[in-house]
Order: sequence, then C-alpha cells, then structure tokens
Amino acid sequence: MFGVIMFDSKDYQYKVSASGRINIIGEHVDYCGGKVFPAAISLKNNVYVRPNGTDKINISWTTLKDKVTLDINKLGEYKSLKYGNYQAGSAYVLQQAGFKITGCDMVHDCTVPFGSGLSSSAAIEVSTIAALLQLSGEKLSKPEIAKLAQKAESEYAGVNCGIMDQYASACGKLHHAMVLDCKTLECEYVPINLNNYSLVIANCNKPHNLVESKYNERRSETETALQILKQRFDMTCLADLSINDFEEGKLLLSGKIKDRAEHVVYECTRVNSAKEAMISGDLKKLGELLNMSHASLKNLYEVTGKELDVLQEAEVSHDYCLGARMIGAGFGGCTIAIVESSKIDSFKKSVAERYENIIGYKPSFYDAFIDDGITVKELS
Ligand code: GLA
Repeated sequence: MFGVIMFDSKDYQYKVSASGRINIIGEHVDYCGGKVFPAAISLKNNVYVRPNGTDKINISWTTLKDKVTLDINKLGEYKSLKYGNYQAGSAYVLQQAGFKITGCDMVHDCTVPFGSGLSSSAAIEVSTIAALLQLSGEKLSKPEIAKLAQKAESEYAGVNCGIMDQYASACGKLHHAMVLDCKTLECEYVPINLNNYSLVIANCNKPHNLVESKYNERRSETETALQILKQRFDMTCLADLSINDFEEGKLLLSGKIKDRAEHVVYECTRVNSAKEAMISGDLKKLGELLNMSHASLKNLYEVTGKELDVLQEAEVSHDYCLGARMIGAGFGGCTIAIVESSKIDSFKKSVAERYENIIGYKPSFYDAFIDDGITVKELS
C-alpha cells in the first residue's frame, strides 16, 4: 500500500481505480472549447469498496487517520468537509442524475500527490462515481462518468473547471495520449511514441494558495474576450477563432483581456501541430511547442510564477532535454519535460541543483507511465 494505514484488500469486493493525468499541450483552453492533448498516468486513486447494507457511506484513507461517514439521504450537506467533500460531491451528483447510491465502506488509496497539478481531485471524483456505479450495478459510459465528475468539481467543490482532467482520468488508454475536442467531446487516441526519449514529471513543490480563485478569474477573462469578439465574428467559443481573425479583431480587446485571448487562440493551433509532431516522430518540434506553450502561459496567461519558471528553465538548459512546460492550472504544481531516456539521472540531478540554488528547496520527480483511465478489479 502507498499510504501508512494498513487494511486487508481481501475484505473488499472491488478495487475501482481512476488516474491522475499529464497534459502534453493545450493548457487553459478546455473551457474555451479548444482541443487538449492529455494522457492518464499510473499514479491513481484506488477505491476499495464493499456494500454495508446501511444508508451510510463510510470513508477511510490509507494516508489519513480520519474517518468520515456520509448519510446517503443528506449528500448535499457535506460541502465544507475538510476530507471527504470530493467523495460526497461525487455521490451527490450521481444521485441527482437519478442513480441509486448503495451504502458502502470505501478505503481510498491515492497515489496522485495532492495539489501537484496531476489532478488528484479528478481521480478521486471519477473513481468514487465508478465505484458507486459498480456496487449498484448501474451502467454509465466513461465519458458520462467524466461529465458527472466535472459537475461535482464545479458545483460541489466550487472550481469552475473544464472537462480535461475528468475525461483523461476516466477515458485514458495505456501508452496513448488523447486529442480531446472539448467542444464536441470527440476523442482521438494517439500512441505515445517517443523513441529513446521519455516524459519526466517534476513538481516545483511551491505551497499552494488561491489557485481556485485565480483559475476562476482567468476563466471569466476569456469569457469577457469572447463576448467582445462575438460582436465581430461568428463564433460560439474562443477556440473557434482562427489566428487571422484574431489578429484582425484583437484591436477590439485591451490589456490583459487581449493577452488571455491571444494565449488561447495560439495554444489551440499548437495542439494540432503537437499531434502531427507526435505522429511523425518529430520530437524536436514537439519540444519547441512545449517551450512555446510555457512562454505563453508565463507571459500572456500569467499562470506560471517564479518556481515553475525556474524549474522549466533548469530543465530546458539541460543538453538532453528537448523541451518542457508547466501542466494543469499552474501557480505551482508540475512540469513535464522530454528527456533522452539514458540521461534522466543526470537531468534530475542538474535540475534539482539549479532549482534548489535559486528557490531554496528541492523539486520532486515522479515515476509514472501512461496508463488506462478507469479500471475495475473484482477482489472477492
Ligand atoms: C485545471 C482544470 C482543467 C484545465 C486545466 C488548465 O487542471 O481542472 O479543466 O482547465 O486546469 O488547462
């Protein structure tokens, strides 16, 4: 077990898992109807679950001493819980959608580091919904589970997020990334083919604060841009706008609102280029696109911060790194870097040293591979 609190998995009926995610490119565009290029990873939230014949959901964790009991007739009332609110929100949206909730005992074993930008919250929400469906015997497709999980995050946890994290967590596929069109939810799986290169995940370990409010602020800035540009162009979301139209229409926008829209429009084109680069094996090009994405998130979208910038600069200054960028909401959390596989140890050492010299503490590196989204295993 990853956590410190021991339990016997044989006492449970199912192990239901959902994944954390990385995002190769396409950042802060999902809520603007853009395409994203995420992949599920082998860091997961695992739920060990069994029915208990009551109208209560008893939750415990392998990493926490706390225990929480939810009354399935009062699921709307747990928003302020410190632990268990994601599980409550997930059960609540499932119930509101007309599904039966079965009283149960669940142990959560989460190997996705919290607050890392690797979507531990999506992994918890998706795995909780999938576990409850498994117990009640009711069926829902993985994309539908992802949509309900997104609803739990926005309506219960209060983060007005896009669909990327929950979709990747639910629908990921071993050794594949997915090009997800967030406007239509069409999804195309693309094999991750990096030859003798690997993706290295690093956490800048910046203490998190105010991420939700800054995230919601960025989202509303893009909505302001959309409302202004709609007066000139036939569009329903920012991702509809071509670069040419944006360049013509940007005079209508001012200051930060123009910068935010510029990031979204150009980032959307980088997703298509990155997909082509991955398919054709042009890793140098893929690396350049990652660097351009980071620069845009730093200068135009302003969601990086000193720690992520220092980490990314340390990564790209290594001779065997083709490119790197921050992933997820930003303001802290993780980067991904494309690094020659035989040089990973020297890469980690030099990046950690450079980062610690400037920031004063070390980054963390995670070993993970690209994995499936939801999986269900019968235990007894
Ligand atoms: C968070 C959100 C996603 C997405 C990313 C930024 O991870 O949950 O929906 O907006 O930030 O790309």
